Amino acid sequence: MDSHENQQPTDLPQPNPTHPFPSIPKPFLFYLSSILILFLAIAISFSFTKTNFYKTQRLKSALSYKKSKQTPSPNPNSVPRYCVLWMAPFLSGGGYSSEAWSYILALHEHNMKNPRFKLGIEQHGDQEILEFWEGLPHFIKKLASELYRTECRMNETIVICHSEPGAWYPPLFQTLPCPPTGYENVMSVIGRTMFETDRVNSEHVKRCNRMDSVWVPTEFHVSTFIQSGVRTGQGCENHSIRRCEVL
Ligand SMILES: *[C@@H]1O[C@H](CO)[C@@H](O)[C@H](O)[C@H]1NC(C)=O
Ligand SMILES: *[C@@H]1O[C@H](CO)[C@@H](O)[C@H](O)[C@H]1NC(C)=O
Repeated sequence: MDSHENQQPTDLPQPNPTHPFPSIPKPFLFYLSSILILFLAIAISFSFTKTNFYKTQRLKSALSYKKSKQTPSPNPNSVPRYCVLWMAPFLSGGGYSSEAWSYILALHEHNMKNPRFKLGIEQHGDQEILEFWEGLPHFIKKLASELYRTECRMNETIVICHSEPGAWYPPLFQTLPCPPTGYENVMSVIGRTMFETDRVNSEHVKRCNRMDSVWVPTEFHVSTFIQSGVRTGQGCENHSIRRCEVL
């Protein structure tokens, strides 16, 4: 032990002009560590830009940028009074998303020829995915920003909630509720959904029965929804289930 301690001083580097790192001047060390800290800060901020929070904020600001810059219409009388607000996971990818885009593209094209209502969209029902948004064709991005800017009066709006019923007002998870302000002050609310199962759980049945109408893709869904307790009304179309009363 003693001998080891005695050896230590001789192991320490001796001041030697040929040593690869001779005494480094203190200002230089300070300079070096500042560069390291700067480098770390850049690295951290770069990784921050990849977090979901940042992406979502960026996506929202990309969409809402133009919402505040709406220019008033030259002739307000030519603008239809009523609005169709389609709420779906437009920015999420997946089945509901692509189906919603199909409807919107068709509706928009139809409505352009003979504008009978204002068409608006809202992101709802799932997480936004920046990569999905970035991969959309330019004309869809342009249309998305345009339709996102549409201003609707809720009492003059038909709201389509195109999502899983757990996202409908009040939502069971964090998402913009559909309808955004509840069922009371909107003109009409339609739920568009589906399940690849032979039954619908009671929570979802309750949510379907709050809608003015529920649209499902096939006869199979009409029968499974009705068998599970979704109410039907008179004048029911083949692919819609109308409610009889609000539960
Ligand atoms: C909706 O509300 C606005 C006032 O907030 C009112 O001017 C308008 O007439 C209402 N529309 C309908 C269809 O009741
Ligand atoms: C409903 O379905 C029946 C038979 O499948 C058909 O004859 C009828 O035209 C349909 N009604 C509507 C409104 O699509």
